[in-house]
Amino acid sequence: MQVLIMAQGIPEEIIDEIRQRTDLVGLAGEYFKLERRGKNMVGLCPFHNEKTPSFTVSSDKQLFHCFGCGASGNAFSLIMKLENMDFPEAARFLAARAGIRIPEEKKLKTAADNFKEKIYKLNMLALKYYAHQLHNSKNGNKAHDYLLKRGIVHDSIELFKLGYAPAEWTGFFNFAKSKGVSPELIVKAGLASPGRDNSYYDRFRDRIIFPIFSISGNVAGFGGRTLTDHEKSGPKYLNSPQTLVFDKGNMLYGLNFAREEIRRQKKAVVVEGYTDVLSAYQVGIRNVVASLGTALTENQSRHLRHQAETVITAYDSDTAGAAATWRGLAILQSTGCLVQVAELPEGDDPDSYILREGAEAFTSLVDNAKPLMKYRLEKLKESFNLASDKGRISYLDELMPFLLAAVNQVEQDYYLKKAAEELNVDEEALRSELKKRRRSSASYRFKENVQQAEQKEIEIKPEEKILISLMLQSKEIADKGRNLLELDFFQDQRVKAVVSEIWESLDKGELVSAEKIINRFSDQQLSSLVSSIATDPALQDLPDQIAKRMAGDCVKRIYQAWAGKKQLVLQKRIRALEAQGNEKELELLLKELQQLLINKKSVSTRLEEGGDFNG
Ligand code: CTP
Ligand code: MN
Repeated sequence: MQVLIMAQGIPEEIIDEIRQRTDLVGLAGEYFKLERRGKNMVGLCPFHNEKTPSFTVSSDKQLFHCFGCGASGNAFSLIMKLENMDFPEAARFLAARAGIRIPEEKKLKTAADNFKEKIYKLNMLALKYYAHQLHNSKNGNKAHDYLLKRGIVHDSIELFKLGYAPAEWTGFFNFAKSKGVSPELIVKAGLASPGRDNSYYDRFRDRIIFPIFSISGNVAGFGGRTLTDHEKSGPKYLNSPQTLVFDKGNMLYGLNFAREEIRRQKKAVVVEGYTDVLSAYQVGIRNVVASLGTALTENQSRHLRHQAETVITAYDSDTAGAAATWRGLAILQSTGCLVQVAELPEGDDPDSYILREGAEAFTSLVDNAKPLMKYRLEKLKESFNLASDKGRISYLDELMPFLLAAVNQVEQDYYLKKAAEELNVDEEALRSELKKRRRSSASYRFKENVQQAEQKEIEIKPEEKILISLMLQSKEIADKGRNLLELDFFQDQRVKAVVSEIWESLDKGELVSAEKIINRFSDQQLSSLVSSIATDPALQDLPDQIAKRMAGDCVKRIYQAWAGKKQLVLQKRIRALEAQGNEKELELLLKELQQLLINKKSVSTRLEEGGDFNG
């Protein structure tokens, strides 16, 4: 069966306790904004780009469901998706949050889970090693002096856990090995590479080390800055390679430190480099994260949008105008952030600017940042000759993606008018050009429903859906359903698994909840199905009689669909046996068919009389 039971070593009672002590509304509210709508809370879905909220959290049911992309589940699934954790990780995360201690687990985890955890652990070991080197070795002192000279204060070194990788080929490698870590793991963590003749060498050598943390504070990877601005010493910055836990395009440096302040202000400042984050942080500007030197990706943009309404970029003056930068900004805008651009003087980056001009000057640059559209229009005007046709066409080409990614219609209209003025063209002509481009290129427009369609769709009939919903709400209906039906009457394996969970729970005397069922499976589609079934407003709080009548009707349909199919199969086989002249088996099958036809009729009459469900 494709469904996995996922408690994986964490005792069921503990999972239950975590569930009871976790309020989904509060939890979700720590990540993004929710507003009350009737019985539910709604907000912008963190799992796909949208501008009107379709992400719904039910406080009663402790379930979420997005009507836009279908994402759904309970507190555990939410954390799994948001923090990119597996079930045990999410359970531990929620346990810690609720102050629940998980007893030593019996190991039952998958190889991949173990590997991720091992890498995090090894990264922590590396962090400690590098920090130790910074503070306790001779060359480390040199590195330490370098940091102080650059204006990075002691507190920042401590908080950001900076370190130093010594100028040795196997410094860390040997250290890790002496602690019993396998070479394979060291390589998988991106901390060393295999050399010739079964040898290995450290990735980071003679570099200042910047640990890169995940939102939840795990060490995901490292950045290393060379101490000599010399071409021979390789690139100025070297980062961890992609590993099971590190993906540069998915990380924002400093987000774990800045998250709280970003949420408080609803505003994030994005810079390029490690040192920019540090400089800002230590002068008290604490809503700053770095995109690690690359143009913003869709994933990074989404992380930002989870935390902030406004995102202000403060890039190095020399990268600000690069094509890739513009592309990243359009992506950011298309996630629904209000994007503003703070412009630094020629030759500066936030680090150098703060050191020279001070915190207030930088704060004022940020406060006076220009709306992205306005800024884009200005820059375009500077770089193209609008008197020539060619210039005007290029201007339009560059502008269109930004107009298409506008936060809303008002913004789009406003800047469309402005552009029409600049170009001295008719506004309507521009609008129809925009329409044309919207159709022809999906360019930066939000891509809905990307993550779907990997697995086969769950096949479920309406009657199956309704019955499951009703069984989840009433022990009596679940009992009757079990007496009248068999698991095999349901076609889809995953639907069977859900029904089986419900029925099994009856033996224990307690009806399982939707929220609980979701916990037991790893399957996204299944969890989506169960929570949409369980939260369907049309099936909630029905009068008893109506619920029972509906359930009876569903049972009948389910049975008859199955019996109808079975009848066809039997008849086909009977014809084949008749042709073969296999009397003995034929007799058996004929009996079976006869019984089936009798049952089919009696189930119908019994249910039509309503006896079984209402009696
Ligand atoms: N970067 C990188 N690889 C490089 C150069 C840069 O990954 N070869 C990333 C680093 O995250 C760096 C950021 O891009 O912090 C910005 O680059 P840059 O402006 O060159 O570095 P600064 O942070 O300004 O570094 P410094 O002040 O130490 O020169
Ligand atoms: Mn820089």
